[in-house]
Amino acid sequence: MSQQFDFGMVGLGVMGRNFILNVADHGFSAIGLDTDLAKANALDEEGQGKPVQGTTSKEEFIAALKKPRKVMLLVPAGNPVDAVIDSFLPLLDKGDLIIDGGNSFFADTNRRETYLSTKGIHFMGIGVSGGSNGARFGPSIMPGGDAGAYELVRPILEAVSAKVNGDPCVAYLGAGSSGNYVKMVHNGIEYGLMQLISEAYDILKRGLGLSNAELYSLFAKWNTGRLHSFLVEITAHIFTVNDALSDQMLVDMILDQAKQKGTGKWTSQNAMDLGVPVPTIDIAVSLRELSALKAERMQAEGLYGTAQKIETDQSELLEAVEQALYFSFIVTYAQGMAQLTDASKEYNYGVNMETVARIWRGGCIIRASMLEDFRNAYHKNPVLPNLLLDETIAAQLKVDEAGIRKVVGAAIKSGIPAPGLSASLTYFDAYRSGRLPLNLVQAQRDYFGSHTYERTDRAGIFHTEWD
Ligand code: 6PG
Repeated sequence: MSQQFDFGMVGLGVMGRNFILNVADHGFSAIGLDTDLAKANALDEEGQGKPVQGTTSKEEFIAALKKPRKVMLLVPAGNPVDAVIDSFLPLLDKGDLIIDGGNSFFADTNRRETYLSTKGIHFMGIGVSGGSNGARFGPSIMPGGDAGAYELVRPILEAVSAKVNGDPCVAYLGAGSSGNYVKMVHNGIEYGLMQLISEAYDILKRGLGLSNAELYSLFAKWNTGRLHSFLVEITAHIFTVNDALSDQMLVDMILDQAKQKGTGKWTSQNAMDLGVPVPTIDIAVSLRELSALKAERMQAEGLYGTAQKIETDQSELLEAVEQALYFSFIVTYAQGMAQLTDASKEYNYGVNMETVARIWRGGCIIRASMLEDFRNAYHKNPVLPNLLLDETIAAQLKVDEAGIRKVVGAAIKSGIPAPGLSASLTYFDAYRSGRLPLNLVQAQRDYFGSHTYERTDRAGIFHTEWD
């Protein structure tokens, strides 16, 4: 019999190829399938001396896997996942496991799991974060679905995942589509953090006139402190890269229109469905949409003029920007993690938030030192509804509150858009308001539509003939 492999990967794009090489580095044999011969060959070439093989034949691929087969898909989300599943079904045996490692929409994962269970095939949706480098040298992995099936791949996933102090950044998260859901919220938080960093950049560059070299120094310094995180680290590096096609820095030559593949939007949309406020994530999605309106923005700039320089003591504002970022990062994680907490109840996922914080500490795009604080908060109180209610985090936010107010105030005064920072601060202000003015909204609703209201002093539903 020809060689039998421990693990199979479908889709040998850069993520799939790197993931399978990572698997092979950890002593597991693996076969990769891609319809593109060049990609299958690239795996053979890069994998020389490792227990990996590329193929373009799905029959060869399936026949070469040890049973029960463990097949992971890293193909584009949507129809391609269904197409691969359908083409594999006649070749698989009961008890085999298919893992979808892409950014699939969680409802699709539920549908696929139900469908495949009728065929006796296990199916798991697994979030993988860390980009191509993470896939090669240690991603954060977010598995959800059948707990028994997870045991089939647990040793492999633990081996290939990122490690923080020896602790693997992977753990079984919960039932059904919980893995994809956790990854979706990860990406929503990612959108939020990226928006916040871009606002800080705008304030520092347009508002204070900092050069790329100064921006590099600042972000690099911040990255050695409490803002230590992958996104701050790569931001610092971005400011050092020269353009190969001009004599400018590359960042200055990049068109200011951010694309998106949908996971941030899904996070916002589903937060609305659940009734959970995530305004920093919402605004991050909106700003990507607004960035697309380049021609209109240029026209409006002609009409209204643009932002002014910020007139202030520079070193004081730099300190305040660091505080504003720290504050708004916490508030963004708090929104996303509150959404996850609610979603876990709504969809019966059974997700443990301490585990989420733990496996996000390394490997993923939103890895950051502050995740350790979040982990501690959920360790102290596993049913914490919102990180803002943790006393240690509250003590920190109180210290940085003045900084973010200063930065948002300066941005608003000079006309520099800082919607993510403002939304984070406003979320905080609303969340810590024991009484909001929404009593008036209720009065208005009752006034024009007899929608009724509840009272502060007695139970029941009331209606008033207002006029
Ligand atoms: C990750 C990333 C990854 C991908 C984003 C990009 O965790 O490794 O989140 O999943 O790079 O989905 O998303 P957009 O194209 O929507 O910005």
